[in-house]
Amino acid sequence: MNIVKVENLSFSYKDNTVLDNICFNIREGETFGLVGDSGSGKSTIALILLKLLKNYKGKIYFNDKDIYTIKKKKDVKEFYKDVQIVFQDPYSSLDSKKRIGYLIEEPLLIHEKMSKKERNDKVDEIMELVGLDIKYKNNFPHQLSGGLRQRLAIAIALVLNPKFVVLDECVSALDISIQAGILNLLNELKQKLNLTFLFISHDLNVVGYICDTIAVLNKGKIIEIQDTENLFKNPIDSYTKKLFNNSYYEL
Ligand SMILES: Nc1ncnc2c1ncn2[C@@H]1O[C@H](COP(=O)(O)OP(=O)(O)OP(=O)(O)O)[C@@H](O)[C@H]1O
Ligand SMILES: [Mg+2]
Repeated sequence: MNIVKVENLSFSYKDNTVLDNICFNIREGETFGLVGDSGSGKSTIALILLKLLKNYKGKIYFNDKDIYTIKKKKDVKEFYKDVQIVFQDPYSSLDSKKRIGYLIEEPLLIHEKMSKKERNDKVDEIMELVGLDIKYKNNFPHQLSGGLRQRLAIAIALVLNPKFVVLDECVSALDISIQAGILNLLNELKQKLNLTFLFISHDLNVVGYICDTIAVLNKGKIIEIQDTENLFKNPIDSYTKKLFNNSYYEL
């Protein structure tokens, strides 16, 4: 079953068309990769899927519901429980004045009717799940290393038990050795929590490591979609071949 369907999605910033007739489906339980150079439109797709950019053309369905029609407060709230995003640099998206334990607890305060004890237990549980020692609860985000900060961002994204998580360049700022730890964690969490991921990166090898299916985006157009094995064996488009070359040079 498809959890996300994107049909003929186009988007412009003023006169600048940045997405041109994009179509893809994401199956429940898969990790769907979106790869392309800087400026190709990857984050714009992420923002539209999260209902953060409105004036697009085309249709987007989440669990067969047109997300444009999700307007009632209760339904919007439900949508933001089910759909989460993790950005490249959690430092800029996290409130640096709040303590780590509180940052993870905050979504529970907003969305769930839980006692203090229940929230505390949930925070402990999720910190353990993402490999963030509970001794950090009273620290601030800037006191963590880049890799641990990304684990914190993942904890915050997962605390409400979402169904679908968008990961936008979530390992791009990290050293290669730290990247592997986060990618393996994501794989593990996906299995344990029955998640579906949209994994966005400019690096084809990173995408190849974690994704089941890959869509290649170039200047706002999808130029090929293949399952990962086939894409790596037989990239059809010359742009995809170029991405392979760039990716190898980086390693
Ligand atoms: N707020 C904005 N106003 C105007 N143009 C924008 C805005 N945000 C992005 N763009 C333009 O839209 C295009 C797509 O940008 P987008 O951020 O989606 O690309 P991306 O693939 O995520 O790039 P990167 O790999 O650098 O994150 C680019 O040409 C960018 O300059
Ligand atoms: Mg981006």
